[in-house]
Amino acid sequence: MLVEIAVGVVRLQALTYRALGALRGGLNGAASGLLAEALTADELGDVTARFYDTRLPGRRRAGQVVDPGPGRYSPAFRLFAGESEWFEAYLPAPPARILVGGAGRGREVAALLEMGYDVDAFDPVHSFCADCQMLAGVGIVVCADYGSFARALLDGDKTSASPLTASAPYAAVILGWTSFDFVFSSFDRERLLRAVHAIAPRGPILASFHVREQPPGGRAVAFGHAAGQRVGRAVRHLRGLSDPPPDAELHCHLGVIQWSTRQEIQAVGAIVGREVVWESRDHGLCATQPAVPAAAPSESPSAVGSWTTEMDRSTHCVVFLAPADPGGLSCGA
Ligand SMILES: C[S@@+](CC[C@H](N)C(=O)[O-])C[C@H]1O[C@@H](n2cnc3c(N)ncnc32)[C@H](O)[C@@H]1O
Repeated sequence: MLVEIAVGVVRLQALTYRALGALRGGLNGAASGLLAEALTADELGDVTARFYDTRLPGRRRAGQVVDPGPGRYSPAFRLFAGESEWFEAYLPAPPARILVGGAGRGREVAALLEMGYDVDAFDPVHSFCADCQMLAGVGIVVCADYGSFARALLDGDKTSASPLTASAPYAAVILGWTSFDFVFSSFDRERLLRAVHAIAPRGPILASFHVREQPPGGRAVAFGHAAGQRVGRAVRHLRGLSDPPPDAELHCHLGVIQWSTRQEIQAVGAIVGREVVWESRDHGLCATQPAVPAAAPSESPSAVGSWTTEMDRSTHCVVFLAPADPGGLSCGA
């Protein structure tokens, strides 16, 4: 009898988990659909930057809120498995000056400094820039997003990214791990690459991002997403906004991201006159287990672990190779 009751309780637990999971998926889908439709690309970018900069109550520090694993983006974790091979294959040998955008707390910056490179960096989140500035031997670190970087380079505007032009030309530019996701329109992606080309005309541009290869999972997510989109479209109409970004999505560990397509990446590379080389070492590169953990992880909830694996699988890396004759694009700075 007691065994029957216990089995009943276990079944009820399983049902509750499933129902809560569906509810959570539906709400996430609805929020995603609504926000992606109702906000401009600039506003979506602001949401992400402020999300990364949030200091939540409790013991987590600013920025750690977004760690999908303990300290995953900490400078002490250095490069992910395979990432160092990617760098070795495409970066010019040190000594050389490298620029890292979307540098976060300086994970790539710290590794590059150790490899003997001169490194400048930028990121829109103030607490992250402060962490980067603490790295011994780092060069210029400014607090800027890709939009202000492009305005400084292409329009000659005085922005927080302007000091970087003093170190031009760079031997290579790395758009920090998946930070290309936070550039929402094709127009802005093209401007970013043009700006990077202007500051590193002879160097490779290394970028990573998420490519949607399967439709968003689950009926609850799809239902919530469609409902959220309908409300978002109405808000968009009332605000008189033009078309929304094609596939923006809200993620509890990344902020709002723009999913990429392979065709779009090829097209933006072609527009700036660069050959696109896809990283083909399967997912060895994108499996983001650190090569050398800095400290024993204190916690790693399995739900977060499986989310991480799913997002890792859709992470892709490319190199936009410099053309043989890098002329043609002008640097307005
Ligand atoms: C996934 S984290 C990676 C950080 C770091 N590159 C690393 O791998 O440890 C993405 C970074 O992109 C930055 N970011 C967000 N929006 C950005 C924007 N519009 N322009 C440049 N960087 C942005 C975030 O502040 C964050 O540091």
